[in-house]
Amino acid sequence: MALALLVWAADRMRARMHRRRRRQLEAEVQVRTAEVEQQKQALEHTQAQLQRYVEDRERLFTAISHDLRTPITRLKLRSELLDDDDVRDEFHDDLDDLDMMVKGALQTVKDTDIHENLTAVRLDAFIGRLLRSAQLAGHRIDFTPAGLVVQARPLALKRAIGNLLDNALCYGHSGDDGGVAIVTERAGGMVCIRIRDHGPGVPEVDLARLCEPHVRLDHGRVQNAGGLGLGLGITRALVEAQGGVLRLENHADGGLLATVMLPDRTDS
Ligand SMILES: Nc1ncnc2c1ncn2[C@@H]1O[C@H](COP(=O)(O)OP(=O)(O)OP(=O)(O)O)[C@@H](O)[C@H]1O
Ligand SMILES: [Mg+2]
Repeated sequence: MALALLVWAADRMRARMHRRRRRQLEAEVQVRTAEVEQQKQALEHTQAQLQRYVEDRERLFTAISHDLRTPITRLKLRSELLDDDDVRDEFHDDLDDLDMMVKGALQTVKDTDIHENLTAVRLDAFIGRLLRSAQLAGHRIDFTPAGLVVQARPLALKRAIGNLLDNALCYGHSGDDGGVAIVTERAGGMVCIRIRDHGPGVPEVDLARLCEPHVRLDHGRVQNAGGLGLGLGITRALVEAQGGVLRLENHADGGLLATVMLPDRTDS
């Protein structure tokens, strides 16, 4: 009887120890699970940050490569003015190399921000410089100076307006028409730069998707075989990064009207 009692007491003690050990193990598993979960979240956060960083770099790279094509074209036109044939040919060769590199760069990546401070930009002089480059290429653009000053990032604004102007000059003319006109004005607390062409405009159903990457309409492919469908997306990103808005609409009298609106900070 005493032996049976002893065995029973030993069994109970062993069972109690097992239960205690199991509870300890369960608590440990819980702590470890929480630690693993924390580490998983930290890893996911780092991964997301890295992904964003890579995407930002890619966007910046694509945008700069894209917008480099305009000054390269301008330099090519300017080089035509060189008298010495040999020098001109060398210049052309160098620019062709640069062009190829930019195209190559664009093919390796799949819109955008260079750090610039807001600066007071005198729109008459700023647009005047863009117009001289376009005139060099033989285009006619109407612009009436309005004496406006806007707080903007000058290079970003130049790239944005340059892309819109390139489009207006490329798609927006139909022979003997009214050409391209630029107007600047203040409206609703914003400074507006309006670029209007006299081309066919864009079907209303397509307007909303023009800023999506690689969207090109049929006439775009025909008139500009080398286009990439990136210009408007980059332009919108450049304008929005300055607190502005890009609006694209068909003008009541025909042609596309592109408006860049930037906050009017002159009085603040
Ligand atoms: N002023 C315009 N008039 C008519 N269609 C236009 C005009 N501007 C743009 N589009 C249409 O919108 C499309 C997208 O323009 P976007 O500037 O983004 O790309 P792209 O001009 O084709 O190429 P790129 O990347 O070289 O600028 C063009 O292919 C064209 O079909
Ligand atoms: Mg374009």
